[in-house]
Amino acid sequence: MIPFVDLKAQYASIKTEVNAAIQGVLDSCQFTLGSEVAAFEQEFATYCQAQQGIGVNTGTSALHLSLLAAQVGPGDEVITVPFTFVATVSAIHYTGAKAVFVDVDPTTFTMDATQLEAAITPRTKAIIPVHLYGQTADMDPIVAIAKRHDLVVIEDACQAHGAEYKGRRAGSIGDMGCFSFYPGKNLGAYGEGGMVTTSNADYARTIRMLRDWGAEEKYHHVLKGYNYRLEGIQGAVLRVKLRYLEGWTEARRTAAGHYNRLLADSGVSTPAELPNARHVYHVYAIRTDERQRWQQALLDRGIQTGIHYPIPVHLLPAFSDLDYHAGDFPHAEQAANEVLSLPMFPELTQTQCEDVAAAVRALAAGRTARIPVTA
Ligand SMILES: Cc1ncc(COP(=O)(O)O)c(C=O)c1O
Repeated sequence: MIPFVDLKAQYASIKTEVNAAIQGVLDSCQFTLGSEVAAFEQEFATYCQAQQGIGVNTGTSALHLSLLAAQVGPGDEVITVPFTFVATVSAIHYTGAKAVFVDVDPTTFTMDATQLEAAITPRTKAIIPVHLYGQTADMDPIVAIAKRHDLVVIEDACQAHGAEYKGRRAGSIGDMGCFSFYPGKNLGAYGEGGMVTTSNADYARTIRMLRDWGAEEKYHHVLKGYNYRLEGIQGAVLRVKLRYLEGWTEARRTAAGHYNRLLADSGVSTPAELPNARHVYHVYAIRTDERQRWQQALLDRGIQTGIHYPIPVHLLPAFSDLDYHAGDFPHAEQAANEVLSLPMFPELTQTQCEDVAAAVRALAAGRTARIPVTA
């Protein structure tokens, strides 16, 4: 069996350090926020080339509070993409603002900046590009358009810890960056977690208050806030894991390199990596118009795969009130129909990559063989 991700293998490799870190929190009884969270905030912000990090309980909360810090509320519009995890859009909904979509680029699956200006209205307040699968959106044109229209850029970097764009790290390119530490992420907690990174002191101060009941100091509530605090145990675990993140990222990139090489000339469409970017391969997705059959055939050979994501958000029943329809975002819709995520985790071996690629190649060859030959 080749799993889609293998959290057990990773835990086994860092067990002694993680257990000691958790024991330290138990001994200190700093269960929410506390010194481990504060230290992790600084270390992760530095890692992201941002001045501040504000730890929160989930990536969704990071997005929600970033939008609130940008003063997004009812009557406002926020532009994002439909080919993302639903949380991006839910966070917009939490503020009372309306999500407005633009399609994705058909090769990278990230925001197509050429469509942005047409989607901007007098109500637009912010743009959320999503760094899908671990590759940043093409940020320069997005930031330039935002500047021209006085809009806030919030990076959804929930899948992109350590991703780079022209030498800049995800989370430091827009006004704020939002990260998830859900266990399966490239940097995953042992529970839930999230963070906002920013170099804007005003946004940081507001988010710091909002995550802890809007309090400036204990019981002095200056904003209507939330209980979105990051737990001490998660801070301690994440501090340990952050020290390994670069190595794990390189391992992911090595595995992606194996897949790319092994699937070259097979007719299988592999991920596009922007020339001046560092893709961190949270997900390695190929494309096929026979996805269901391929997924079952791979499973029959003991290879687990995933689909990120089968339905674009504009076609989800939960967001039918946005009044979008099939055909509105053809690239997002085609991607949602075709993407198939292969096993990807730092401990994936070259042999496992070879086995997966061989199985995919066989499927691709079988597919070609079935196409009738015309004279
Ligand atoms: C693109 C994207 N945005 C937002 C989120 C939400 O993060 P969380 O699950 O930590 O709330 C996730 C991950 O789950 C994600 O992949």
